[in-house]
Amino acid sequence: MKTILVTGGAGFIGSNFVYYELKKYKDLRVVCLDSLTYAGNLETLKEAMANPNFRFVKGDITDRKAVYSLFEEEKFDFVVNFAAESHVDRSIDEPEVFLKTNILGTQVLLDAAKKFGNIRYHQVSTDEVYGDLPLNRPDLFFTEETPIHTSSPYSASKASADLLVMAYYRTYGLPVTISRCSNNYGPYHFPEKLIPLMIANALAEKSLPVYGDGKNVRDWLYVEDHCKAIDMILENGRVGEVYNIGGHNEKTNLEVVKTVLRILGKSESLISFVKDRPGHDMRYAIDPTKIRNELGWYPETSFDEGIEKTVKWFLENKPWWENIINGEYVKYYEKMYSKR
Ligand code: NAD
Ligand code: DAU
Repeated sequence: MKTILVTGGAGFIGSNFVYYELKKYKDLRVVCLDSLTYAGNLETLKEAMANPNFRFVKGDITDRKAVYSLFEEEKFDFVVNFAAESHVDRSIDEPEVFLKTNILGTQVLLDAAKKFGNIRYHQVSTDEVYGDLPLNRPDLFFTEETPIHTSSPYSASKASADLLVMAYYRTYGLPVTISRCSNNYGPYHFPEKLIPLMIANALAEKSLPVYGDGKNVRDWLYVEDHCKAIDMILENGRVGEVYNIGGHNEKTNLEVVKTVLRILGKSESLISFVKDRPGHDMRYAIDPTKIRNELGWYPETSFDEGIEKTVKWFLENKPWWENIINGEYVKYYEKMYSKR
């Protein structure tokens, strides 16, 4: 039986990946290492905990001693690193922890993968490392050759990690791959992010804070399609390569917010335009030609279907997100939005 380490598996995408792998492979052990920051939630992994092929370990990827001892014990065949500080607004407010987790944590994992048997390593990165594209050039897309050009402390930390990953490939021959995905949405999305925040606020008839004029464009992908892509890269991706993941699903923020309101039957008068995010990226758009041609990946869920499924999931799983927004999150919301 092979064993995969999934770091950050108590967060949004990592947990979806844990469930994807446990469902797809009956002969794979999945070990999740997560320090349970504000974004990690054991409730999310409740069903996985009942699976004998799953193990949860509470630990920090920057803790070299703990990471080495886990690698020594588990003899991993694969490592997939989702663990990160992931929210751009928080990185603008307090950058340091982003550098620590996203860069130094990645380095610890790379060292462990090198030390304990040259383990196949996959880094979950982001399209944000490419910076942004202008709104008046719809013909432009991010390819794997687009230069790194970051905007926020978050994207700068993710880009730094990517450079380290490639350095470990070139210098030490560590078998690595990197994926750079566009914006995900779906079950277990943390309520600080655009779509779940708008769902929660609309249901409470609170105002929906749209940054700037709402014309910024994001390229949305249903989270399961991201998980499928990572699984395919682990199986058949070429080591030393970067793969962009995205499904040509560009929407302005205003379009997304209005879609959420329409599905929930709420009024557009709830929308409130607030002060813009500093350094706000205008447009992200992925060219997924490489992963489609090399690995046969394509997105299975359209935005119309995915957003309906997502809103339904949030309606059916209110205790999951209500617990979050009624806890520590109250202070966060107050700090970020009260004077905006
Ligand atoms: P998330 O914030 O929902 O989850 C992050 C998880 O990592 C949490 O469970 C948290 O507890 C854990 N974690 C944080 N610091 C840790 C540490 N030092 N040690 C161990 N665990 C730690 O994030 P997400 O949205 O699921 O993103 C996962 C990964 O995917 C990130 O690397 C992010 O950069 C990348 N990504 C996200 C998106 C997106 O749209 N959300 C798109 C592309 C790439
Ligand atoms: O592109 C991939 C990235 O997508 C990931 O690497 C990040 O981890 C993930 O958080 C996401 O980053 P964004 O900054 O694009 O996501 P966010 O949900 O924070 O914001 C999406 C857009 O909505 C962005 O243009 C800012 C805007 N926004 C966001 C919030 C939270 C608002 O207008 N109002 C809000 O309250």
